[in-house]
Parts: sequence; C-alpha cells; structure tokens
Amino acid sequence: MGEEVKIVHISDLHIAGRGDRRQLQDLDRMLGHFSRSGIDHLVISGDLSDRAKEADWEIVRELLLRHGWYHWARTTVIPGNHDIINLEEEMRFYNALNPLPGMRDRACTAKAARFCRFFQELVTGDELGDAAFPFIKVLRFPTLKLAIAAFNSVNAWSATDNPLGSRGYIEPSELRAVSSPAVMKALDGCFILGLCHHALKVYGTDSLLDQAFDWTMELKNRQEFLGVMREIGAQVVLHGHFHRFQSYTLGGIRFINGGSFRYSPNRYSLLEIEASGAFTQRFMVMS
Ligand SMILES: [Fe+2]
Ligand SMILES: [Fe+2]
Repeated sequence: MGEEVKIVHISDLHIAGRGDRRQLQDLDRMLGHFSRSGIDHLVISGDLSDRAKEADWEIVRELLLRHGWYHWARTTVIPGNHDIINLEEEMRFYNALNPLPGMRDRACTAKAARFCRFFQELVTGDELGDAAFPFIKVLRFPTLKLAIAAFNSVNAWSATDNPLGSRGYIEPSELRAVSSPAVMKALDGCFILGLCHHALKVYGTDSLLDQAFDWTMELKNRQEFLGVMREIGAQVVLHGHFHRFQSYTLGGIRFINGGSFRYSPNRYSLLEIEASGAFTQRFMVMS
C-alpha cells in the first residue's frame, strides 16, 4: 500500500441475469484489474440489478467473493432505484389494485432493508449488527481514517409524483441520524465520504424537455442532503444514477458521478487521498 488511500468507484451495473454474459465477464475483468492495482476500497453506488432482482445481487456477491472483495473493509454497496423498484410490476400492480401510497412506501423501505441485510457483511462486517440506512463505516488505514456515510435515496414509485421510479428522496430521519452528537464524535478526525445513489446535479438547462427529464431524475430533497453533508464536513460525495461520468463542486463539496458500468465497462473513478486529506480524482480507462 502506498502513501495515498486509493478508492475506486463504479455504478449502475444494471445486471440482467446470468444470461448477461458480456456484462458479467466485464465485471469479472474489472474486479481482477482492481485486485492487481493496489486498490484499498471499492464503492458501488447502486443499480446493481436492472429489474430489482435479488438473483442479480447474488451475481455481484459471487464475483466480489471470487476476487476477494467481499469484505466490510474492502467494499461498500448501496441500492439504486433499479435494485428496489421493478417499474413494470409497479405499474401492473397499480393498475390492478391501486394500492395506497403508504403501502408502496412501506414496500420500498422493506426492500431497501432487504438489500441491506443481503449485503450485511459489507454493511456491518458481521452477522449481528443492525443492517439499516444510514450506515457509517470508519476505516482505519495506516495514513488516514476514512468514514463513509451511506444513505438510501430510493423513493417509492408513484403514478403522479414518481412515474418512472427514478426520482430520489432521503428520509429526513436518515439525514438527522448522521448529525447526532454520537455520530459526529465518531467522525471526528476522519476524511468523510458521503454516498447515495441519486445525482444532485442533472442537466439543469433552460430547455423544457431537459427540465422534464430533470424532474424525473432529481433527488427531491437535495438541498437538505447537501446541508447535512456540509454539517458533517464531508469532503467528497459519490453517487451514480445519471449515467454520466462527472465531477462537480456544490457548496464546497466535490461530487463524483460514477457513470454507468453497463454502458462503459472499462471506465471507473479513482480517488486518491493523502494523509493530509488532500485528494485527487480521475476517471480511468482500463486497458
Ligand atoms: Fe442506473
Ligand atoms: Fe438509478
């Protein structure tokens, strides 16, 4: 391990079953590349599955295991909307039964909790901890203490408010939880990395078409999220969802969009953090 802590970030795998052979080969190749590159930690910022299938989560788990990445200290994963919401099913179900929004909210929260329990070893590091959002990891490297504050930003499908299931929302209770005195104490002296699936910035142009698209993709309470990230002193926030590799600054915090592994299986983000807390970020292309 060198002086810098090296964190790689990929996102939006959108795996569609075991028949998705090219995609699985690409992920296998990428994880092998990370293993040979002296990487300290891997972050996958959601949309592991394309159609909210646990079988796709299992594929990711198996590949992480095969390459020695399936460990709390090595990898962090969070869900994206495609891990939780199967749009086709939601619409069929809605048309057939028109269930109450409260039911859909509860189902969405329950599935996010299932994701958390499924990847429990990567969330709590053991079988006993309470796997739920938000979760905070404090990783101690020889030169640096790194904290990852991970949130679930998936918002339940709704015919009027979230018709594509792709608008995001972070529960206020999740946001409040990380700024409690006990958590702030645990974060003291750490380089802090925020993590959620949804983008804070999408197109943001004056075009009406773009604005309609922005609305379907946005993180609804992004200002509150940004406020909490500032309050806890996050230096960097990683996300995915909007399938573009981007790096931008908001409120003094660097945001990194990990793009989409599905559409660019050779690209990833590399974040290198020095002992002083100075960092550099680059998008890399695997040769
Ligand atoms: Fe996605
Ligand atoms: Fe997404």
